[in-house]
Amino acid sequence: MYLYILVSIILTLLFAFGCNTAIRKHAGSFYILAALIVLFEVIYYETGLVDTTPEWITSYIINPFKRGALSTAMFIVVMYMGALNAKKPAISKLMGIRGELSIIACILTLGHNIVYGRHIFVNLFTNPAEMKPQALIASIISIIMIAIMLPLMLTSFAAVRKRMSLAAWKSLQRWAYVFFALIYAHVMVLFLPKFSEKYLDIIAYTFIFGAYAVLRVTKAVKTSKNTLPQREYAGKA
Ligand code: HEM
Repeated sequence: MYLYILVSIILTLLFAFGCNTAIRKHAGSFYILAALIVLFEVIYYETGLVDTTPEWITSYIINPFKRGALSTAMFIVVMYMGALNAKKPAISKLMGIRGELSIIACILTLGHNIVYGRHIFVNLFTNPAEMKPQALIASIISIIMIAIMLPLMLTSFAAVRKRMSLAAWKSLQRWAYVFFALIYAHVMVLFLPKFSEKYLDIIAYTFIFGAYAVLRVTKAVKTSKNTLPQREYAGKA
């Protein structure tokens, strides 16, 4: 056992910096690759390949995808970009692939949704009374997350974005904050009842999401302070 989320953030940063130009130039190939990974994940669990493959492959290679940690790490990197100073060279480099990285994250999340959803959603719709309360709450939260994630994913494609007005696109993208907060809620609902086993994950997620909230609010306050005099001036003019 290791902290999937921390390893996933490191892998995401290596991927985002290492493949930056390739992602920018051949985004479509990365979307196809992500979809193939999802397909493989589903086959891996549905055909019982998981039972015949050495355990380390499942633990170290398949699990970060299957558990939703790798896609969440991509969402975390995307969200942090918006909370940090975009003028810093490293952030500006990542900013250039922000949309592409979120689309890859959304596609990979589908694998997690299918592998877990296949059993959990079946229970939710056929026998909710038999479900543990945390599984019930987590699946309701998951449905809301999927409902927010799909429009966010579609409108991240340049072709769709160009058809929307900037104001409509921006107001839809604000739902990313709700989505991000729900990821934290989803993880806590599932992990808090297993505190003794998952306390390190709980601490890691709380630190990552908490630090993001502080950084994002600080940036928003700074931006509004910087723009306030101009607005006041514009109002007087
Ligand atoms: C829609 C977007 C979703 C995101 C971004 C997401 C994200 C996550 C993350 C980050 C974890 C913790 C991974 C770790 O650090 O080990 C997790 C765990 C989990 N998720 Fe999701 N999830 C989503 C949807 C779903 C859906 C639809 C289901 C099933 C109905 C689901 C079921 C689970 C379960 C059962 C766990 C616990 C896994 C464990 O204990 O190892 N999730 N999810």
